[in-house]
Amino acid sequence: MKQLPYLLLVFISFLACKERSTPEPAVPVKGTIAQNAMVVSAREEASKIGIEILKKGGNAFDAMVATEMALAVAYPYAGNLGGGGFMVYRTQYGEIGALDYREKAPLAAHRDMYLDSAGNYLSEQSKVGGLAVGVPGTVAGIFAVHQKLGTLPMEELLRPVIELAREGYVVTEKQQGRFEQYAAVFEKVNEEASLYTLSQKAGDTIKNEALAATLERIAMKGRSEFYQGETAKKLVAFLQSKNGIITMEDLDAYEAQWREPVIFAYKDLNVISMSPPSSGGVCLAQIMKMVEPYPLREYGPNSTKSIQVIAEAERRAYADRSYYLGDPDFVQIPIDTLISETYSNARMDTFSFDAATPSTEVNYGNLEMAEAAMTESMETTHYSIVDAFGNAIAVTTTLNGAYGSKLYAKELGFFLNNEMDDFSAKPGEPNMFGLIGGEANAIAPQKRMLSSMTPTLIEKEGEFWMSVGTPGGSTIITSVLQTILNVYEHDMTMQEAVNAPRFHHQWLPDIVMFEPDSFSEETLDSLSQKGYSIDVNNAPVIGKVDAILRLPDGSLEGGADRRGDDTAVGY
Ligand code: GLY
Repeated sequence: MKQLPYLLLVFISFLACKERSTPEPAVPVKGTIAQNAMVVSAREEASKIGIEILKKGGNAFDAMVATEMALAVAYPYAGNLGGGGFMVYRTQYGEIGALDYREKAPLAAHRDMYLDSAGNYLSEQSKVGGLAVGVPGTVAGIFAVHQKLGTLPMEELLRPVIELAREGYVVTEKQQGRFEQYAAVFEKVNEEASLYTLSQKAGDTIKNEALAATLERIAMKGRSEFYQGETAKKLVAFLQSKNGIITMEDLDAYEAQWREPVIFAYKDLNVISMSPPSSGGVCLAQIMKMVEPYPLREYGPNSTKSIQVIAEAERRAYADRSYYLGDPDFVQIPIDTLISETYSNARMDTFSFDAATPSTEVNYGNLEMAEAAMTESMETTHYSIVDAFGNAIAVTTTLNGAYGSKLYAKELGFFLNNEMDDFSAKPGEPNMFGLIGGEANAIAPQKRMLSSMTPTLIEKEGEFWMSVGTPGGSTIITSVLQTILNVYEHDMTMQEAVNAPRFHHQWLPDIVMFEPDSFSEETLDSLSQKGYSIDVNNAPVIGKVDAILRLPDGSLEGGADRRGDDTAVGY
């Protein structure tokens, strides 16, 4: 008996040695699987409300309305009534399209509104407070979707959302941290206490009666309540008391726009993504076209060679973004040329595996200021929905920064965006994402500011295959790209592809950002030796991807990002 502990130790050592010498094949990590329909979003409450709409016979477009508004209640960080967004859709019949409900510059906006008399950029003014706010598009967006493609009455779609606002949502650990971080800022910017200046702890329930009342009025009176009615009047009065320039005329003039999405082939995939005024689809197409000739599968995921090819393609696409892209209602954009194979191949002519191409050789820019700007917060939110009829949508919506301009319309129960910062306030100088903008994205009245949001749907063999998107400011495009490649080139499950560590390059600053503690020292050293500037400290999280993949047997796999509170719900 005395020998038992010793024998046990020997046996355990034997098992341990065995494990080391013959590793078991890795078991694939799968996300939530559903046979009929799925919603993946940043909050469990929103995914559940979306699924309930689908279960009662609504389609993906009905679920879009409810999910979008539920995020406005339970995820005020980015979900919104005071912001805007984009939706890409594919119906059960294979029709595809896109909706632009991006904010617009107010009528009183002008090119130099954030410059002082000496021409210096007053960067705080485009980020915080009334002057930072663009004319909100979200309510117009949900009504446009409902009118064209929805089936259930609006009141029925908003009922569970109003209930959520009234009965409350439970604060998560991650939310507690964010509320703690911003409560004092809200009080300072708004010069008063409000629901979100109170101490909110994980497990607390937040009830937003003001938002419930706003949603109730919208459910009863329709779109006009937000753009012409009582809500509009209260909103304008609030904004004008906070140095804002949005008028009743601005709200009245706001329209969401149906757009042609950007469509391109990557090998046997047909990718459908958001067109300008988002740069997402064009940049995604450019990068995918530039990397297509390289055998990424052979190089392996996140290997030195894969990172080099992808980072160099990103560098070139973001340089073009800065020069060519803006609101298509104001500027001519040579989309066909930018995403063509000929142009993409020529763009990679200067790439070599031996050394990084310095961004100064790809184009020009203000490096120092761009580096300083990169450390700002990057928020937005994405959700994907597939219904039992076969309709699929990808929607990304935003207030821009975390809680937007930090202005909280207390009487109405929601935050206002700071989307004006997505314009090039002073062409050549970086915005909060470090993105350098050009003339194409200069401010003009009624113009939409350039976005990076990349809601994307993919077809394979003529059928829906994937819905994907993410928040993350300038890192949105590269996160969507890497998620798609992880599944398609590296055979990851949807959940593994979402979990996988990510990196990002955006031309300027000339830095490759890596999520910390995720890439091997060997890989990072070899990239440094080739001349890449590596940053593993300033991007704790790159993207929070939510996605749905149709599996070969027709079932759906959800990929909900572990980096947030994101949740896939299906049936
Ligand atoms: N506000 C972030 C974006 O639209 O890209």
